[in-house]
Amino acid sequence: MSASFRVVTGALALLLPLGIAGSAFGQDRAGATPATAATAKSLRQAAGDRLLLGTAILSEHLDDPRHAELIRTQFNSVTPGNEMKPDHVQNERGKFTFERADKIVAFAQQNGMQVIGHTLVWHSQSPKWLYADAQGKPLPREQALANMKEHIEAVVKHYKGKVKGWDVVNEGIPDGPGDLRDTPARRAIGDDYIIKAFEFARAADPDVELYYNDYNIDMDYKRARGLKLVKQLQAAGVRLDGVGIQGHWLLEKPDLAEIERGIKAYADLGLNVMITEMDVDPLPRKEITAELSATEREGLDPYKAGLPDDVQRKLADRYAALFGVFAKYPQVTRVTIWGTTDANTWLNNFPVRGRTNHPMLWDRQMNPKPAFDAVYEALQSATGPGKRAARGTPAERQ
Ligand code: XIL
Repeated sequence: MSASFRVVTGALALLLPLGIAGSAFGQDRAGATPATAATAKSLRQAAGDRLLLGTAILSEHLDDPRHAELIRTQFNSVTPGNEMKPDHVQNERGKFTFERADKIVAFAQQNGMQVIGHTLVWHSQSPKWLYADAQGKPLPREQALANMKEHIEAVVKHYKGKVKGWDVVNEGIPDGPGDLRDTPARRAIGDDYIIKAFEFARAADPDVELYYNDYNIDMDYKRARGLKLVKQLQAAGVRLDGVGIQGHWLLEKPDLAEIERGIKAYADLGLNVMITEMDVDPLPRKEITAELSATEREGLDPYKAGLPDDVQRKLADRYAALFGVFAKYPQVTRVTIWGTTDANTWLNNFPVRGRTNHPMLWDRQMNPKPAFDAVYEALQSATGPGKRAARGTPAERQ
């Protein structure tokens, strides 16, 4: 039996329970390509049960039936892109506003998708009162700890049993010198604020997975500090269930080999590695960063009329190469793409406001791009029978 035949059979078997038209999918792999084949391809099906494949969404996307259909059929996991952040769930002290995030959770439950909680402690998109007084002065440690505990406890308990895992602390390592970023929480609490956040989250839900999440901790300049932090957390008795590498990458940078060194380094510590906010930015910019305050005032906007074919091809090749690297590591248990279509990616406004960006797998009309096919093919070959260890904790896999 040829390898490709086995892949087709496996994919068809996965299609049937979800009731998605399976014939076009199978015929497409076999060479006869009916007109509907492109839309019948599903990344969710191609990933099977071996990889969580996610997308970051906003609750309003679910009001558009076409958009909701795309999310439901193409992904098996969602991350609320904004709606679980501190300023969304508790902007005013003690007034919890879970409605919009709840809507995402309900959608995920109806469609058999996992939800990833993002995020409990972060220096952006968080109300000032959590860690500072009205004058902006850091709160006394005990007060800040009490606020952090109350926030984490309320949010984690609200979503107990509904969220697979939490990005407990986001972006704790600086781009410049130093082991820890200078953040409101750290200024008020001290260097152990990250350990404390994990302790509060674990106490609120003993079963949920807890992750440390950051950008560029795969890259050479930040990796040693990422590893150091992870080891410190483990030494402090924190049960860390994974490390999230955000994965806001550019078309040509960082080098594939550098990203792979990063994935391998965390995997070698016995950790699951998740690519939590993947996108590939084809527009020119100065730096590889996801720091929200690092906006660039001016930037070229060369693809307003659409992405030229050669760049489209490069984008597809880059996605294929990255998914090829992920497939080498069974520790990579989830890949979440930060957005769904080019119309709703945050990169239309970052690092330069108001550009026409094209980093996603679907274009502005929700048509799949060559990058979609590239990811689909990469998933097919990576998750074919016998190609990849089943998902699980490193211990379970041994
Ligand atoms: C972004 C959202 O996508 C935008 O809608 C929002 O305006 C700013 O934040 N790293 C993260 C994410 O951890 O939370 C950020 O999300 C992107 C960078």
